Amino acid sequence: MRVLVTGGAGFIGSHLVDRFLREGFRVRVLDSLDSKVHPNGCPTYLPSQIEFIHGSVTDKAVLREALKGVDVVSHQAAYQDYMPDFSRFLHVNAVGTALIYELIVQDRLPVKKVIVASSQAVYGEGQYDCFEHGFLLATPRSQQQLARGQWDLLCPHCKHPACPRLLEEEHTNPYNQYAVSKLAGEKIALGLGWIHGIPTVSLRYSITQGPRQSLFNHYSGICRIFVSRALSGDPLVIYENGCQTRDFVHIEDVVNAHMLVLEKDAANGQAFNVGSGRATSVIEYAQLVRDKVGNDVEFRIPAEYRTGDNRHSVSSIVKLQVLGWAPKHTLSDILDDFIDWIAKSGGVPEQIQDAYSDMKQAGVVLAASK
Ligand SMILES: NC(=O)c1ccc[n+]([C@@H]2O[C@H](COP(=O)([O-])OP(=O)(O)OC[C@H]3O[C@@H](n4cnc5c(N)ncnc54)[C@H](O)[C@@H]3O)[C@@H](O)[C@H]2O)c1
Repeated sequence: MRVLVTGGAGFIGSHLVDRFLREGFRVRVLDSLDSKVHPNGCPTYLPSQIEFIHGSVTDKAVLREALKGVDVVSHQAAYQDYMPDFSRFLHVNAVGTALIYELIVQDRLPVKKVIVASSQAVYGEGQYDCFEHGFLLATPRSQQQLARGQWDLLCPHCKHPACPRLLEEEHTNPYNQYAVSKLAGEKIALGLGWIHGIPTVSLRYSITQGPRQSLFNHYSGICRIFVSRALSGDPLVIYENGCQTRDFVHIEDVVNAHMLVLEKDAANGQAFNVGSGRATSVIEYAQLVRDKVGNDVEFRIPAEYRTGDNRHSVSSIVKLQVLGWAPKHTLSDILDDFIDWIAKSGGVPEQIQDAYSDMKQAGVVLAASK
C-alpha cells in the first residue's frame, strides 16, 4: 500500500509518516515547506526512505504526480494563521482539497480512502445553554463587547452569560477565515467522496500538541508560546481574563485516531472530533507550564484579546469513542514531551519570531478599553 501524506513535513503529518512506515506502507510526502512553518527549510526529522515532492496542493500538475499509484491519501496540508490574508485560507484549504478529488475523478485513480484533517475551529463560537432560553449556536462576541472587556458569551435574548457545552459534531458554525476554509475543505471532501464513491473520513482535531510542533508558526499557539517564554524567563501574556477554555490532545492520540478510521469502514462518510473532552482554562495551562518549567515566571493579564478567538472550545469525543478510540495521554504528558523535545533539540531557537508583537502590529491583538 502506498500513502500520500500532504503536509507530511509538518507536525501532525510527520508523525503520521513515521507511523505509516512502521505499519509497512510506502510513503510519499507532498509539502510546500511553507516558510512560516519551516524557516530553516526541510526538517531533519523526515525519514530518508520516503519519497518527497516539494510543491503545493494547489498546483494541479504537481498534485497529479503526487497522486500516481497511491492507495490512501492523508490530507494534512493547510494554511493556518491569524493574519488577515483571508483569500489564501480558502485557496489552500478548500481549493487544494477540491483538486485532490478532481484528479481522483478525472484520472480515475484507484484511491481506496482519503482522510482529511479538519479542525475544532469549524464550530466557531460553539454550543451553549442559556438557563432561560435553552440551547444556542453562538454568534461570536462583537468587537464592541470585547473592547469593553466583557469576555463571557451572552445569550442574545436575555443578555445573561450562557454556559458552554461540549462541542458535538452535528453543529458547525464557523466564522473566521481559517474555520470557514476548514469546513469548506471538509464538506468538499465528504460531499465529493460520497457522490463519487471515494471512502472519506474527516477528523476534527482539537488543539494538538507534542514534539515537532513548529516553534515559528504563529498559529502553533499556547504550548510553544508559553513554554518558550517560560524557558526564556519572559512573562506569559494571557488574553482576556484567562478563564477561556480549550481542550488539548497529544499527537500520539491523533495518530491512533487516524489509523483507526483508516481501518474501519464504519467511519466512512463521517466527521469525528479528536480531542480530550476535558476543559482546561488558559490560566490553568499557564500554571501547569510554570510548574513543569520550574521557575516563577510572571503571568501578565493586560485585558487584551485576539480578534476571532472563541471563548470556549472543548470537543465531545463520544462519537470516536464509540468507534473504539480513547485518548491515552494527559495534558501533563503533552507538556513533558514538548519540553523534553525542546531540550533535546538544543533549546528555544534564537530567531523565534515574537508572535505577540507581530499580531499586535497587524491589529489582530487588541486592548480592551477598561
Ligand atoms: N495542530 C493543531 O492543533 C491542529 C488543530 C486542528 C486542525 N489541524 C489541522 O491539521 C493539519 C496539520 O496541522 P499541523 O499542526 O501539522 O500544521 P503544520 O503547519 O505543522 O503542518 C502543515 C504542513 O503543511 C505544509 N503546507 C502548507 N501549505 C501547503 C500547501 N499549499 N501545499 C503543500 N503543503 C503545504 C506546511 O509546509 C507544513 O509542513 C492541518 O490541516 C491543520 O489545519 C491542526
